[in-house]
Amino acid sequence: MAIKLKDKTVFITGASSGIGKACAEAFAAKGCRLLLTARRGERLEALALKLREKYNTHCLVAELDVQKKKAIDALVSSIPPAYADIDILVNNAGLALGKSPLHENNPKHWDAMFQTNVMGLLHVTHAVLPAMIERGKGHVINIGSVAGRGAYAGGTVYCASKSAVKSISEGLKHDLLGTPIRVTCIEPGMVETEFSTVRFEGDADKASSVYAGATPLTAMDIAESLVFVASRPLHVNISDMLILATDQSDATTVHRRG
Ligand SMILES: NC(=O)c1ccc[n+]([C@@H]2O[C@H](COP(=O)([O-])OP(=O)(O)OC[C@H]3O[C@@H](n4cnc5c(N)ncnc54)[C@H](OP(=O)(O)O)[C@@H]3O)[C@@H](O)[C@H]2O)c1
Repeated sequence: MAIKLKDKTVFITGASSGIGKACAEAFAAKGCRLLLTARRGERLEALALKLREKYNTHCLVAELDVQKKKAIDALVSSIPPAYADIDILVNNAGLALGKSPLHENNPKHWDAMFQTNVMGLLHVTHAVLPAMIERGKGHVINIGSVAGRGAYAGGTVYCASKSAVKSISEGLKHDLLGTPIRVTCIEPGMVETEFSTVRFEGDADKASSVYAGATPLTAMDIAESLVFVASRPLHVNISDMLILATDQSDATTVHRRG
């Protein structure tokens, strides 16, 4: 039987857009208390206002760049007591940059992807996990990708970063065996968010071509899956969940109409 999520505290990274923002709404609808972080603080404020009005959500927002370890540690060590007992950590902040062959890549993009998708996830987890273990409860949900299951042309470094998210999730499950802490890796396929606009540095035509003629997943499709895994009975750990659009069969194979 599903467990109730009401009054659980959920810490979400990258809550200013896309999947993270949808997760905020989905967990708010279940009565959760939220700690929302991202770099764009004004977006978080607007989201918090909406969630307070719509769901009466207790919501704390904080600007956080997950590339900055010191800022992560400072934030986690100064969380007000009402939000400090984090039940669910959603490591969602992430990005892809560029889609050229590796030898034509801008190496600065590699840094940004690994520092965010891998090191950011590690540092946030490292900061949050000890208190979960001490309290004897908690759930770490990492957002991986279908890209972590097999590399594709033009996505070598992004795919490697998401492959790392998959391995980290698997390793963490081993490390936490014997504790009640649960670990899940959610691996979405094509989701229509700002992801492609960021990847193509604002080129709207390139971004929309990713979804052309197909029906992509929505951010809320993914958020509802997170609510599902988080609300399984405590003896159930959904370790891995690959979620594809019906119009997609792997990272690069998409059925397009017209
Ligand atoms: N969309 C897809 O097709 C897809 C598929 C598989 C997996 N994913 C994964 O899903 C996750 C969310 O992506 P999305 O599709 O929702 O894209 P999105 O709409 O661009 O959202 C990305 C979020 O990550 C945050 N972020 C990026 N860099 C950050 C940093 N250094 N520090 C803190 N926050 C940062 C952004 O916030 P700020 O810019 O305000 O900091 C934003 O809230 C990512 O991990 C992505 O790799 C996406």
